[in-house]
Amino acid sequence: MKFFLDTANVPEIREAAALGLCDGVTTNPSLLAREDGDPREIVREIAKICDGPISAEVVGMTAEEMVREGLEWAKVADNVVVKIPMTTEGLKAIRTLSEQGIATNTTLIFQPVQALMAAKSGASMVSPFVGRLDDIQAPGMELIETIRQIFENYDIATEILVASIRSPMHVLDAARIGADIATMPFSVLETLARHPLTDIGIERFLADWEKVKNR
Ligand code: G3P
Repeated sequence: MKFFLDTANVPEIREAAALGLCDGVTTNPSLLAREDGDPREIVREIAKICDGPISAEVVGMTAEEMVREGLEWAKVADNVVVKIPMTTEGLKAIRTLSEQGIATNTTLIFQPVQALMAAKSGASMVSPFVGRLDDIQAPGMELIETIRQIFENYDIATEILVASIRSPMHVLDAARIGADIATMPFSVLETLARHPLTDIGIERFLADWEKVKNR
C-alpha cells in the first residue's frame, strides 16, 4: 500500500520524503488555505520534493470550469493529479480530462456506487472519506471494503485512495482490506512508527549495555 501525505505543508512533506515514505501527496482547498503563499507555487514546490502523484483540487462547479481549472493545474507539474468532486458535472469533467491523458482523483466519495461511477468515467483514483463517515456514526471502513469488492468483481484498475484518515487504525484497516493508497496527516505517519514497547525495549537494551560496555 502506498503512503501519501494529506497536507500542503512543505516542511512536513520534506520530512516524509527524507524518510522515504512519501509516495504521493493529496491537497485540497482547505489544506492549501492553511499555508501562506500562492497555492500554485506551493503545489509546484511539493511536486519537486515528492515525485509521486500530487493531487490539486478544482473549485469550479460546472464541468467546463472544472476542465479549465484542471488543465491549469496539470501545467503546474507533470506529477499533478486533478482532484474533482463527485458530482454529475465532476463525472463529465473526469471523462474529458482522462480522454486528454490527464490523471484525476475523484474526491468526496461517501457511497460505493459513487466510486464505481467515477471509475467508469475514467478516474485514475477515487477518494472515499472514512473519518467523516465515522464522525456521523457510519462505519467508514465498510465503504472501503465494498469498493474493493466491486473493483475486484469487474477488474477495475482505478486506485482506491483512503482519505480522511484520522488514526493509525485507519491505516491498518486500509492495508488489511487491500486499499491501494492511504493518505494521512503527518501526525498519523509519525504515530505509526511508534510503539511503547519499542521505547521500553530500547531503554532496557541501553541500560544493560551500560553495564557491559567497560568490560
Ligand atoms: O484528503 C481529504 C482529507 O483531507 C479530508 O480529511 O480530516 O478533513 O476529513 P478530513
